[in-house]
Amino acid sequence: MSALLTSYKVWDRPTRIFHWINFLSVISLIFIGLIMLFKPELGISGTPAKIAIKAVHIVIGYIFVINLIVRLVWSVVGKGFASWRAIVPQKGYFKQLAQFRQLSKTGDEPQYLGHNPLAKLAMLAIYLLLITLAITGLVRAGTDIYYPPFGDAVRHYVADTPANAPLLQPYDKTHVNPQQMQQLKVFKKPFGKVHLWAAYLLMFMIVLHIFFVVRTEIKTKVSLVSAMINGNKILNKPPQDKQ
Ligand code: HEM
Repeated sequence: MSALLTSYKVWDRPTRIFHWINFLSVISLIFIGLIMLFKPELGISGTPAKIAIKAVHIVIGYIFVINLIVRLVWSVVGKGFASWRAIVPQKGYFKQLAQFRQLSKTGDEPQYLGHNPLAKLAMLAIYLLLITLAITGLVRAGTDIYYPPFGDAVRHYVADTPANAPLLQPYDKTHVNPQQMQQLKVFKKPFGKVHLWAAYLLMFMIVLHIFFVVRTEIKTKVSLVSAMINGNKILNKPPQDKQ
């Protein structure tokens, strides 16, 4: 006997556009980030090549950051499943989580319009990692190769005289005050470490995200991927959550 299918409008256009720009920019950033990490193994050497790869990573990083900022604003302005309330656990969250786990155990796979309670936590973790990567990336862009938005301030901080600040070039000691540069190195190191570890964690979360999307699609027969393309989820039983 076939169950009754009902289509619900779930993801609005801004959320879907954010998702796919984020997907493309994050994949590209990871790809170039890995090239940066494995430069010696890939036979890439020399300062100009090093700077060029960083510059490409940073320019894609700007697209990623702007897209993320727009999404964060939309999470406050937008309604329904675009709202931050659909991601940050709300009152009654643990009850919903227990119910989700109970139903999943019995094989009576529950269906949701938005994220299931476990996916909500994963989304929250992913957003926190994206924000961490955006902040640390922008700091490293300024402190490594004097790129905006902090590059000018960094140039002025490490220049031997204010007049020479605009002349400073990445990885070139001309017109650089060695003490200030040493202090800058101490300051920027933790940002680099956090950036790298957040990138590793994000890669792990992406693998989990894709695994659980595919698994949920197979178990519930609800097409989650096409919902993120056309905005509609088609359920064959009443959803556990409301719009
Ligand atoms: C999803 C977002 C991002 C991911 C997954 C990512 C990943 C990575 C990885 C794997 C590295 C290599 C780390 C290393 O060499 O130690 C790296 C380095 C770097 N990233 Fe990102 N990144 C992201 C976003 C950004 C953004 C938004 C910016 C700035 C606009 C940025 C700027 C940089 C810079 C300047 C470096 C070089 C740091 C260094 O040489 O230590 N990244 N990133």
